[in-house]
Amino acid sequence: MAVLRAINHEVSTGGEKSAIDMPAIGLGVWMMNEPGECYRSVSNAISIGYRLIDTARAYGNEREVGDAVRGCGVPREELTIVTKLRRVHATGYESTIKNCKLSLELLGLEYIDLYLVHAPPEDQTAREPVWRAMEDLLSEGIVRSIGVSNYGIHHLDQLRTHANILPSVNQVELNPWIQRPKLHEATRSIGALTMAYSPLARGQKARDQQLERLCEGQGFTAPQAAIKWCLDNGAVVIPKSSHPGRQLENIQSMEIDISGIMEEVNRLDSNHVSGWDPTVEP
Ligand SMILES: NC(=O)c1ccc[n+]([C@@H]2O[C@H](COP(=O)([O-])OP(=O)(O)OC[C@H]3O[C@@H](n4cnc5c(N)ncnc54)[C@H](OP(=O)(O)O)[C@@H]3O)[C@@H](O)[C@H]2O)c1
Repeated sequence: MAVLRAINHEVSTGGEKSAIDMPAIGLGVWMMNEPGECYRSVSNAISIGYRLIDTARAYGNEREVGDAVRGCGVPREELTIVTKLRRVHATGYESTIKNCKLSLELLGLEYIDLYLVHAPPEDQTAREPVWRAMEDLLSEGIVRSIGVSNYGIHHLDQLRTHANILPSVNQVELNPWIQRPKLHEATRSIGALTMAYSPLARGQKARDQQLERLCEGQGFTAPQAAIKWCLDNGAVVIPKSSHPGRQLENIQSMEIDISGIMEEVNRLDSNHVSGWDPTVEP
């Protein structure tokens, strides 16, 4: 399994405060709403080789993720578990600490590998204390790495004005139909990785005819090409599937070569937002 290094840099020294190796591909578990669906999906994914699971308090399934992780038989240290501070909880220092500890309890784990601020806090005065709490969670070892999600370039710039520790990851929607080269570059410039969510645009592009045509005769499917495009652009990618066959199809994207169609795939960019886009908010 290919791994990428997610590093939290210290602003004062420029050195590493913390670094974790994370698999380049993981399973997203948003919209696994049937009782047991998330448990079954995570258990199956781990059994076929997934080692990163991306959940969030907002998805309502941290408990099922934790049950599957504890029951899977793979040593905890081989798994990367990502969860997120819900936007409505990103109101201040205490709320951030309290909700991270509650996530840990729901997961039933001793630590979280990567904890993300799900989106820029709506109350702009809360952004500094929320990030200070994230830094303290990292220093205490409750989380192994801290990052953000749905941060635009101006949010990253603002964070830099008060942060002691920079995020290791910015998780944003990224796929061939929304390529965001400037945001990707801004994320790289603070030493963070881009984590690509909705690589199939929430499934809206899983049967995209243009991409399917490009993939004809190539020996791979359109969803695989979209996922590999994210990987080839240096992003960690977290496709969601509750379906064992599609989970396998998606993880096998790691092994395909899309260099022959890369230029055409690059031309699919249409700034397609599949759902929400807090990166453009104030
Ligand atoms: N930070 C954020 O704000 C944020 C926002 C959105 C998502 N995320 C994270 O990113 C993960 C992935 O994004 P997403 O769930 O929005 O969408 P996605 O991964 O782009 O697409 C998921 C949809 O595509 C279908 N699908 C998956 N693989 C397929 C394949 N090989 N062929 C055909 N259809 C396929 C799935 O159906 P089946 O399940 O039936 O296969 C599901 O309906 C989420 O689960 C979540 O962890 C984060």
